[in-house]
Amino acid sequence: MTQIDPRPLRVVQITDCHLFAGTDGRLLGLNTEDSLRLVLDRVTCEQSHIDVILATGDLSQDGSMSSYRRFQQHLARFKAPSYWLQGNHDLTEPMVNALGGHGRRDSHLSPCLIAVGDWRIIMLNSSVEHEVPGYFMPDELEFLRDALVKTRGHHTMVCLHHHPVPMGCDWLDNQVVRNAGEFWAIMDAVDHVKVVLWGHVHQNSEQVRNGVHLFSSPSTCVQFKPLSKDFAVDDIAPGYRWFDLYPDGRFETAVSRVEGVAFDVDMSVKGY
Ligand SMILES: [Fe+2]
Repeated sequence: MTQIDPRPLRVVQITDCHLFAGTDGRLLGLNTEDSLRLVLDRVTCEQSHIDVILATGDLSQDGSMSSYRRFQQHLARFKAPSYWLQGNHDLTEPMVNALGGHGRRDSHLSPCLIAVGDWRIIMLNSSVEHEVPGYFMPDELEFLRDALVKTRGHHTMVCLHHHPVPMGCDWLDNQVVRNAGEFWAIMDAVDHVKVVLWGHVHQNSEQVRNGVHLFSSPSTCVQFKPLSKDFAVDDIAPGYRWFDLYPDGRFETAVSRVEGVAFDVDMSVKGY
């Protein structure tokens, strides 16, 4: 008898939107509000159903309340709940306020544990405010340790902002999670984590470590060139990542990028 898979869970990742207080803000020449809208238009066209939206940091460039409120308004076009984590450009307090205050912070801002069907998703804060490189504070590692006990028996995805492994980009690898060794020591003690997912690096990548699939994803605005020694902007279009998560632990994933739009990016900039 042929077994028909039940509908998989559809997860959409939106990352590194870098919104400003005003809608005319530009990062390296690119209007980040416009590019986010174009990426979300693509999500709307491609995704007839979404179970969960994961926003993996640098949602704002300037940490302004209005940037987070507008991000929230942008996501309101989808019925799916969204869960946020902090990037190095983000500030926790305005994120909490945009999410509706401290009551919702516990469930929708990292650190948080999401139950979706047979899967569990752990959202972690790898950012220290006003610092660029990643670092897990002791409380965050304790949350991870505890969450991995609670999720035992479930296929699990772990999300953070910074890359916990080198990307092969020297300038970005200076910003790798500084205590990634502690993170991996906790992760290596369990065998139910299937996916680790991050933002920050503004580029698509896939690696496998100890049987765990590791993914980075395009920003909704400016892209960085893979395998570049020094800071370099890529001319590839903004985009997002989706996952289909199956009850037996299998998953499918891909990146989708905006097409047919010329983006105004200043390729000569040597840093950001
Ligand atoms: Fe970013």
